Amino acid sequence: MSLVTIDSWPTRQHIDFRPQLEAGNILFLPTTPFAAPEESKEFLRNLSFAGGAVHKNIAYRTAQDRITGIEGDAALAERVRDIFRRYSREVVRFVTALLPDYASSWKLDYASFRPVEEEGRDLPLNKRNDLIHTDAFPSRPTNGGLILRVFTNISATKTRVWVTSDPFRSIAERYAREAGLHRIAVAAHSPWAPLRSRSARMLRSLGLPVVPRSPYDRFMLRFHDYLKRNDDFQNNYAQHRYEFPPGSTWLVFTDVTPHSVQAGQHALEQTFIVARESLSDRENAPISILERICGRPLLAGAPAIAPMA
Ligand SMILES: [Fe+2]
Repeated sequence: MSLVTIDSWPTRQHIDFRPQLEAGNILFLPTTPFAAPEESKEFLRNLSFAGGAVHKNIAYRTAQDRITGIEGDAALAERVRDIFRRYSREVVRFVTALLPDYASSWKLDYASFRPVEEEGRDLPLNKRNDLIHTDAFPSRPTNGGLILRVFTNISATKTRVWVTSDPFRSIAERYAREAGLHRIAVAAHSPWAPLRSRSARMLRSLGLPVVPRSPYDRFMLRFHDYLKRNDDFQNNYAQHRYEFPPGSTWLVFTDVTPHSVQAGQHALEQTFIVARESLSDRENAPISILERICGRPLLAGAPAIAPMA
């Protein structure tokens, strides 16, 4: 696990950074390599949560050009949407140039703004950011795709501090069985699995908030919670501390690299779902690693539907 620093962008010759990311390293740019206007950053930093119009979770549904987390103030929502739209466009342009092999088949996911000081937050255990975990989205299964996230520290003064651990391969070999991988894999191949899958799709088509998940996505959600609850992992496993100063940008596969946020405020983030087929080595994908460990395919029975918007 290490930080791979890109001091200047664009680089003089094309470098394939995929193996670095896939091995669990973080690509770090001390200076954000795209336009991030100071007035936009200041506007976001000064958003007030008093009155209830602005929520602490503001997200931008990039594909639909839609903002969530601001209610009742159309002018404010439009201004924030415009800032997100520009940020997202700049990130996509930059990451397309940096990682063209991913760009050909990735799926653009949400962008978000993290406005709250991370140090000392009082959250329920499974929502705590200060406990080391791998990411999984309850509402948006990836069906084996990888979660690539680009973060920009837009704080004027505060460094964002992360603690990470050894990459997915290492922790999965140590903990996946304990976390219930085999039970999920076996259940996925039971005679009842196709029926369960059809029922989930039917309930969803009726408008019920049911998210049909592949066995892989079920395990990744469980593993997220399992790691946060596991004192041995939290206290005794390898830990690496990184600091991201104001004005920096970094990229990481947050399902490959276990991570936690210890301190920092005001970060912007854009997520991409990267297809396993576009990796430099598809055997590095968490789903490939898990399938090797349990000896069964983990997309069997996966409903062939698009992830929820
Ligand atoms: Fe996370």
